[in-house]
Amino acid sequence: MHIDRFESAFLQMSAVMLLVFAGAVIIAVFGLGVQLPGVVEQVAPADVGNTPGFDNPGLRMVYPGKYEAHIIAQAWQFVPNEITVPAGSEVTFFLASMDVIHGFKIIDTNVNIMVIPGQISEFTHTFREPGNYLFVCHEYCGAPHHTMSGLVRVVEE
Ligand code: CUA
Repeated sequence: MHIDRFESAFLQMSAVMLLVFAGAVIIAVFGLGVQLPGVVEQVAPADVGNTPGFDNPGLRMVYPGKYEAHIIAQAWQFVPNEITVPAGSEVTFFLASMDVIHGFKIIDTNVNIMVIPGQISEFTHTFREPGNYLFVCHEYCGAPHHTMSGLVRVVEE
C-alpha cells in the first residue's frame, strides 16, 4: 500500500503525540498523585448526621501512618475545622454537605474537591512536610463563604 510521505509523517507524529499524552496521564496518576475526585457513595443532605463516619466526624487512625478524616461541610463551617496528623501520614478525606455546594481545597497540596449535596466525596493525600495547611471552601455558598476554612496541622513524628 502506498502512503504519501507527508501523510505518513503526520500519521507518525499523531502516534507519537498519543504516546506522549498517554505518558502524561501515567506520570500524573502514578508520579504526581493526581486523582479524579470520586463519588464514593450517595447520601441525602438530611441524613449526613446519621451516616457512619459523619455521625462522629473527625480523624481516626486506620493503622499507624494511615488515617481517615470525615468532614462535614455546612453553611458556613467545616466540622471539624482542625485536624492534626504526624508528618508522613496518608489521609483519606471524606466530605459531605448538609446543605448547598461547598468546596474543599487544601492550600499547597493537590487536594481540591467539590462537596456536592447528595454525595460523599473522597480524596487521599500524603502529608510529607510538617506545617500548617489551610483548607478553604472554594465554591461560593453564601455571604460568609469567605469565612469557611480550617487547618490540617502536620506535626513532626
Ligand atoms: Cu462553603 Cu463557600
